[in-house]
Amino acid sequence: MEIIHVSAECFPVAKAGGLGDVVGALPKYQNELGHVAKVVMPMYRTKFLFQNEWELVHEGSQNSGPHYFNYSVIREKTNKLGFELYLVDINGLLDREKIYGYDDDTRRFIAFQIAVCDWMSKWSYQPDVVHCHDHHTGLIPFMFQYCYSFKNLANIPTVFTIHNAQYQGQFDWGQQHLLPAYDTYKWGMLDWDKLINPLASAIKCSSKVTTVSKSYLNELRYEANGVQNLIQYEQGKSIGILNGIDADVWDPSKDSMIAKNYDDHLVKEGKRKNKKELCGMFGLDVEKPLITFIGRLVGEKAADILPDAIRSSIYHHHGAANFLILGSGESDVENRLEEVKHQFSGYVNTHIGYNETLSHLMYAGADFLLMPSRVEPCGLNQMYALRYGTVPMVRSTGGLKDTVRDFGEWQGYGIRFNHATVSDITYSVGRAIDLYQNKKDLYTWMRSYMMHIDHSWDASAAEYIKVYESITR
Ligand code: ADP
Ligand code: GLC
Repeated sequence: MEIIHVSAECFPVAKAGGLGDVVGALPKYQNELGHVAKVVMPMYRTKFLFQNEWELVHEGSQNSGPHYFNYSVIREKTNKLGFELYLVDINGLLDREKIYGYDDDTRRFIAFQIAVCDWMSKWSYQPDVVHCHDHHTGLIPFMFQYCYSFKNLANIPTVFTIHNAQYQGQFDWGQQHLLPAYDTYKWGMLDWDKLINPLASAIKCSSKVTTVSKSYLNELRYEANGVQNLIQYEQGKSIGILNGIDADVWDPSKDSMIAKNYDDHLVKEGKRKNKKELCGMFGLDVEKPLITFIGRLVGEKAADILPDAIRSSIYHHHGAANFLILGSGESDVENRLEEVKHQFSGYVNTHIGYNETLSHLMYAGADFLLMPSRVEPCGLNQMYALRYGTVPMVRSTGGLKDTVRDFGEWQGYGIRFNHATVSDITYSVGRAIDLYQNKKDLYTWMRSYMMHIDHSWDASAAEYIKVYESITR
């Protein structure tokens, strides 16, 4: 089977979060299963572009409304990522350093999708499935079916994966001229709540919809940032498939970004060395339990309550635990975290920014990883933590619920709580401290047990293949 993944992110080419990790790993595992999975994404100006060799495979031109543009498609020559990788360049739109966050993002991603459709419409054959990820590629199923220029793609089955329904890419109908000419009787397939909504359009037009965990699909039926009725309506073609992790990239026995490699036999010594390195870098006491947070500092991740939760935990538990935060996002949260860091120097430290290497050292060196997320479609951090023998402390939601069992339950290996509140976090920090100080045997057992849980893509990559098989001709 030939599968074309279309995405705005793919690690290590360009990553802003978990979407990049997923698209950088899933195709590799699908190829290992004997299929041909390829990735098509925009050609941003990231390091990966300049450090690798490319060949030009196609040049074309198209219109997005009044804007005429040329585009080119290049291919990485060696398939070093374990799959064929294609980058689409559009001068003036995609040639930027960052992936998102520009005023013209709507225009950028519409043009990208038009270029992808135009290029594919010129192929001498058709792939078995086109798999689109999140709203940046959500108009492709519509374009295949209802845009006159791409009519020859109308029969290609499409899968749309919702990584995060909070972001839908809506824009007003005043900008519909950016789309290629389409069958206007079908305008309803673009519309949701009087806006053109790429996420909603993909849910309506794709052959199958997947979400990145089973629990998230259930939750979306009740709360999906306005599209819950649509999710309910389309539930017959929807399925939740838990993300996996790239077990080659996230492997403490081989990871070159950490201070000391270890496996489950050497977990105690290995983690201790990494913790020492980390605590040395951030002026923290290596004898105290180290609780970390890694992620985008936004409301979805409940990062706004972190400063107060840390303060409260330090007061209530008399400074028995230390905290280390890596992340960037809302400036108010960043500033308040910096205040806590100055107030509790020696107990709390932060690295505001994005740092892939540091994140690996933190998964390896931390004792606990805190994820109080309000919304977590899947979450990869907790699975990385498990692989590195770091106890996840998670709110019971979405994929966190599906991957972490509380240590109060039979064979539990994590800490779960129900609410994204200061009091639930403070209470959970107390449980973490108690586990670390007073339940040493259990803590040792938990660490080696969690490192054995297989969260690699093997199982989920095969589940996706089943989904494709159910819709291919
Ligand atoms: P989301 O995609 O919602 O941000 P995920 O848990 O799926 O959440 O994935 C987050 C990914 O981004 C993980 O690989 C995590 O390690 C990484 N990450 C998030 N913030 C940072 C940061 N500041 N520095 C390095 N890596 C980060
Ligand atoms: C999104 C979600 C996250 C998920 C990731 C990869 O960014 O917020 O929970 O793990 O996509 O699917």
